[in-house]
Amino acid sequence: MTFSFEDKVVLVTGAAAGLGRSTAEAFAARGAKVVISDINEEVGRGTVKGLGDHAIFVHADVADPQAMQQVVDTVLERFGRLDIAYNNAGVELTPNPLAEQSLEEFDRVIAVNVLGVFNSMHAEIPAMLASGGGVIVNASSGLGLRGIPMQSPYVASKHAVQGLTKSAALEYAAQGIRINAVAIGVIDSPLYKTAVATTPGYKERIWSRQPNGRIGTTDEVADTVMWLASDASSYVVGASITLDGGQAVT
Ligand SMILES: NC(=O)c1ccc[n+]([C@@H]2O[C@H](COP(=O)([O-])OP(=O)(O)OC[C@H]3O[C@@H](n4cnc5c(N)ncnc54)[C@H](O)[C@@H]3O)[C@@H](O)[C@H]2O)c1
Repeated sequence: MTFSFEDKVVLVTGAAAGLGRSTAEAFAARGAKVVISDINEEVGRGTVKGLGDHAIFVHADVADPQAMQQVVDTVLERFGRLDIAYNNAGVELTPNPLAEQSLEEFDRVIAVNVLGVFNSMHAEIPAMLASGGGVIVNASSGLGLRGIPMQSPYVASKHAVQGLTKSAALEYAAQGIRINAVAIGVIDSPLYKTAVATTPGYKERIWSRQPNGRIGTTDEVADTVMWLASDASSYVVGASITLDGGQAVT
């Protein structure tokens, strides 16, 4: 797909590695000034070096509201505006039935995946209103649309992202901020590669469940986020775009 984000200022949370990193790289390659934030300072500073002269790294835990406000303040100090935010930071958890999930792990998943998206939008929206509008994309999951066993806190967190997205979209649509979510299926990410390398039969099991016969690529996630961030999707408001090779409709 051909997109141009020349002169746009883009914030991606959790972008030191994984899908956030590849999406930040895709925006930077199309002319955007990119701000990446992450809890992993060492890897984040390495990532930002590959994003060109206009990219910066800001250390922040999305679960910390003050830290997220500081990220947005830094964006405004450095670039004067915020046009696009991809709220990507998220964590998974140890698979277990609900009665064996610990409260600590439930709290951690909710703090990063739900409070993190709330904190991010809480800081981003006033900055976008100040410059007349913007676009926000929130990272949900195919597991934000349906349940699977063993991951109830993660499933709950990604459903919550859908809810935050819908209500915030209604609140700010008339003021020029478009807010949508992506419901991402299985992607060929570093986590997936590790699972394939360490779990015999993992790849065959995962691929056999895919209606399209394969898992997704990080480029396909970046393309979908960029489409939602571009004027090509100007009438898309409060939506959840599913990219999962057909999993959600099985
Ligand atoms: N990979 C997949 O197949 C897949 C599928 C569905 C949804 N998702 C969602 O996409 C997003 C990215 O997933 P990924 O596979 O790239 O994950 P990943 O673990 O590879 O990368 C996540 C990044 O977020 C950072 N991070 C973690 N906690 C943070 C915090 N509290 N504050 C700031 N940064 C933090 C990590 O340091 C890392 O750089 C997540 O929200 C995930 O739930 C991924």
